Amino acid sequence: METIRAVSLTKTYGQGELAVTALSDVSITVDSGEVAALLGPSGSGKSTLLTALGLISLPDSGSLWLEGRQVLRDGRPVGDLAKVRRERIGFVFQKSNLIPFLTARENVSLALEINDRKGREVQARVEALLRYLDLGERMDHTPDELSGGQQQRVAIARALATSPAMILADEPTAALDSVRGRNVMELLRRVAREQRTAVVVVTHDHRTLDVFDTIHEMADGRFVEPSVDAASAS
Ligand SMILES: Nc1ncnc2c1ncn2[C@@H]1O[C@H](COP(=O)(O)OP(=O)(O)OP(=O)(O)O)[C@@H](O)[C@H]1O
Ligand SMILES: [Mg+2]
Repeated sequence: METIRAVSLTKTYGQGELAVTALSDVSITVDSGEVAALLGPSGSGKSTLLTALGLISLPDSGSLWLEGRQVLRDGRPVGDLAKVRRERIGFVFQKSNLIPFLTARENVSLALEINDRKGREVQARVEALLRYLDLGERMDHTPDELSGGQQQRVAIARALATSPAMILADEPTAALDSVRGRNVMELLRRVAREQRTAVVVVTHDHRTLDVFDTIHEMADGRFVEPSVDAASAS
């Protein structure tokens, strides 16, 4: 099933001589259970595309469907985008961005409370998620008591809390060594397969490309022919 379909997204930052075209006629679809990589040099538009797909920063034009429902028509929102973003999309960033004075359990719970879900059912879900991500022994630790890889796994648990249709991750392994980086990538793939989530990951790490089903490469705001393909990556 197609989770996200983006057609002809364009975005320009600034005006006149300072204008930078960050997205130029970019189209992409990602299915449920699919793990897609987004490659390309610095400034090629990867984060801009990710924030457009995530309805964080809207493109100037283009259309977007999430789970078959149109959310953007010619660059204009259709319906309550903040609600769609909160309920159907999970984000993971380069740094885990956990709230430092809350425990792992509280950080994940917060994501559910924001969606008005409270009570014992929430606690059970949070504990199950943390155990699923192998953090059963770390639930009551604050971020400074966790390793970088553990913090990133809490961030993934937080992104998964609402059972989103799609997870968008911007260089989630950049702050990790290669072993922990690979663990996080493999975890994202497991999540995609088991939860039927569409996952899009911006990465510079060519050593983990074998984890991905599809590889998209950007240059100057456009998709280009990938210099590597998923099947032959190792
Ligand atoms: N808020 C902004 N205002 C002006 N220009 C911006 C803004 N955000 C991004 N840009 C420009 O848009 C282009 C694409 O930026 P983007 O952040 O999407 O690149 P990226 O591929 O994610 O790069 P990196 O690998 O360095 O993170 C760049 O030329 C960048 O300078
Ligand atoms: Mg970026």
